[in-house]
Amino acid sequence: MTQEHQLPEEKVFKDPVHKYIYVQDELIWDLINTKEFQRLRRIRQLGTSYLTFHGAEHSRFSHSLGVYEITRKIISQFERNGYADWPREEKYVSLCAALLHDLGHGPFSHSIEQVFDLHHEGWTCRFLLEDTEVNRVLRRVSEDLPERVAAVIRKTYDKPIVISLVSSQMDADRMDYLLRDAYFTGVNYGTFDLERILRVLRPHQGKIVVKESGMHAVEDYLMSRYQMYWQVYFHPVTRSSEIILRQIFRRAKELYHEGYRFTYLPRPMQRLLMDELSLQDYFLLDEAMAQTAFIQWTEEADHLLSDLCLRFLHRRLYKYITMDQEDEALWHEIRCDFAAAGLRPEYHLEIDFPFDLPYDVYQPDKAEGEEKPPILLLGMNHQLSEISGKSDIIRSITGLHLGKYHLYYPDDLLRAHANKLRPSIRELFGV
Ligand code: NI
Repeated sequence: MTQEHQLPEEKVFKDPVHKYIYVQDELIWDLINTKEFQRLRRIRQLGTSYLTFHGAEHSRFSHSLGVYEITRKIISQFERNGYADWPREEKYVSLCAALLHDLGHGPFSHSIEQVFDLHHEGWTCRFLLEDTEVNRVLRRVSEDLPERVAAVIRKTYDKPIVISLVSSQMDADRMDYLLRDAYFTGVNYGTFDLERILRVLRPHQGKIVVKESGMHAVEDYLMSRYQMYWQVYFHPVTRSSEIILRQIFRRAKELYHEGYRFTYLPRPMQRLLMDELSLQDYFLLDEAMAQTAFIQWTEEADHLLSDLCLRFLHRRLYKYITMDQEDEALWHEIRCDFAAAGLRPEYHLEIDFPFDLPYDVYQPDKAEGEEKPPILLLGMNHQLSEISGKSDIIRSITGLHLGKYHLYYPDDLLRAHANKLRPSIRELFGV
């Protein structure tokens, strides 16, 4: 597969993060022009973050092109330097996996996946393997290419170096989304020297490692990841909008199963509520369709559903109070008091505990295939060392998580029912 057809003329995409994205291969160009890949233009990269950072409207289409471009640059550096540890025949499977790794994301995937039994990686593999335009383009190159790309996505591919290009603690996916999300949210942290990192990556005994002199660029990358998680991805306003969104889907599903007649329910949405989505339904389901449904549902007879949709569309989100520790007894007391005051605690109180490890030496509690190998430095004499053993900065954030409990609730409703709440609960929520 090393002799893939080149385009007669190189194609170029203008991109705000990488300036230009270059496509030389007919295979990549044809994949970009499939309807399944074009669908990613209709799915936002950051879900509901646009309600917090108004610039965050960028799509999974632009991110996917970016991951492809970073992977292309890494491979081109390996090839230019003639590193013997890079398996040259893996170039196309790597580029395809990079380009297509997010193909199965649906509308607001991170929220929707928690309500319905959906997993975007599974849908990515279905788009690769079933009767789709993407599948036809891949099979034109070789019958087993769809299966090989799917194996990289599932992390079962027999060349781990290909998996680590697309999915590791320092992979093309993360490098692109950190830079892209920082750019579009407009935050000042989150940047690092991508060109420098790409120059110091080395293929080594089936892994990708970092030349020791590049350690400081990696420190910068890990700090930026740490900052982005706490300042952008876990922003409490974004979490609040995700909670409302989950509750819209949860309420709609509950109503559907009770036999409620919706005034508006396009077929893919109906199939979603039934947990019976076909690949064609899933293909049609995008954020525009979900939002159109929310607009229609603001007039539904069910007050809970219409109220949740109004909150989401008009950005009247839940407020939150913070607790340092888990306190099940207190939470139970709050739920009882909410119910006694006429609120619906299963919809009007949500306890959230955002959690992420910026870097981990190893994660023994993760399921097999889930753990990410450590970042290794390659010394002058070809010895390998785990990076937190060399860097004080990385050691200080290794295994670190700053999670606090946030209790989200509708402040306006709580105030309206305040006279029915116990004084201790009123004091806790400040109403
Ligand atoms: Ni991605």
